[in-house]
Amino acid sequence: MKDQTDRQRERLDAHVFVCTTDRDSEYASCGAAGAEATLEAVKDWLRERDAFWTAVSVTETSCLGLCSEEGTAISIQPRNVWYSDVQPADVPALLESEFGPDAEQVGDERCEAEVDPN
Ligand code: FES
Repeated sequence: MKDQTDRQRERLDAHVFVCTTDRDSEYASCGAAGAEATLEAVKDWLRERDAFWTAVSVTETSCLGLCSEEGTAISIQPRNVWYSDVQPADVPALLESEFGPDAEQVGDERCEAEVDPN
């Protein structure tokens, strides 16, 4: 086991979690409400600003407890920011409010590790 806490604290400014849970049940889920398109909108917004896999990471996650038929749940940590009902069209305003119009409010640290940006 390797403790990576210090490395991640230095490297990461924020982690965007996008729920893509799709369940075969009567209950609402982000997957059924367009989560894949919302996830792509998040990645695209960051890519367009050269901020994807930098000090901001994006992770597809399971249920965040904000299930809705109206859209996707997103959480930005460690900022303790939570949204539900997010549609792809909402993503630019959401990320802009968090990171600035050009993602200039993202930490300066850039990931030095080789990662697959897809
Ligand atoms: S299914 Fe997405 S928050 Fe529950």
